[in-house]
Amino acid sequence: MFKIESFDIKLETKSLGRNFIYSEDIASTNSYLLEDASQLKHGTTILSENQTEGKGRMNRPWFSNKGQNITFSILLTKNLDKINPNHISLAASLAVSSAIENLYQLKTDLKWPNDVLINNKKVCGILLESSSKGNEIEKIVIGIGVNVNQTKFIGDFKIQPTSIKFELKREIVREKLLSEILNLFEEYLHELKNNSKKILDEWRDKCRMIGERIQLEINDKKKFGTFYDLDANGFLILKTGDKLEKITTADITV
Ligand code: BTN
Repeated sequence: MFKIESFDIKLETKSLGRNFIYSEDIASTNSYLLEDASQLKHGTTILSENQTEGKGRMNRPWFSNKGQNITFSILLTKNLDKINPNHISLAASLAVSSAIENLYQLKTDLKWPNDVLINNKKVCGILLESSSKGNEIEKIVIGIGVNVNQTKFIGDFKIQPTSIKFELKREIVREKLLSEILNLFEEYLHELKNNSKKILDEWRDKCRMIGERIQLEINDKKKFGTFYDLDANGFLILKTGDKLEKITTADITV
């Protein structure tokens, strides 16, 4: 059982998580915030113990054992014209990675576009979705799934999953982790408005794959090259021979 008071006492944000919705069962926390028409406040966060239709990137499902992990979404409605959505999802992965390192002294690594890894295994996935009115983005929803206390993962995975408990061999207090992620994410979002370059540089520092040979999967086609850099928009720059190519959507498979 998630104790809202224990989460709330550690929360130091102005807006993220201040309106907090707790649910036992839901189709998807992302879909809830995207489809809700009741003008929820900027920063509203919903956590569900279970998702029956949890969504991953590239239309994949996201599975998470009931009550063991944290699957949550955050609604952003303010300053959306001032921030690049790709930067928001990079900042979210940095917030999760820093929270895990601060609280548990585990070394994390970032995998483009926004996975968080421990020992080359995936501990967190992030899905950013948005809705628009006319030409303007009306809301952005950042959905985050962190594997916390689940230690058995059954199925076929593109990248082997892990959890904080699996790596640390002890039970983790989910409430403290969620508040730390939101505290850090709010700071990163603030920084993005003033100095997005700093966030991109921090992301580069934590991504060990930059400079390495990688294999990409784009619509079931494979592509090889060197991960040359992250560009100013958060896209991956792939180097093959003398050619540089901008990759906007793909999975790094090796
Ligand atoms: C991925 O790595 O494929 C992204 C996974 C994102 C999962 C989270 S769990 C909370 C939120 N609600 C969803 O339906 N998906 C995101």
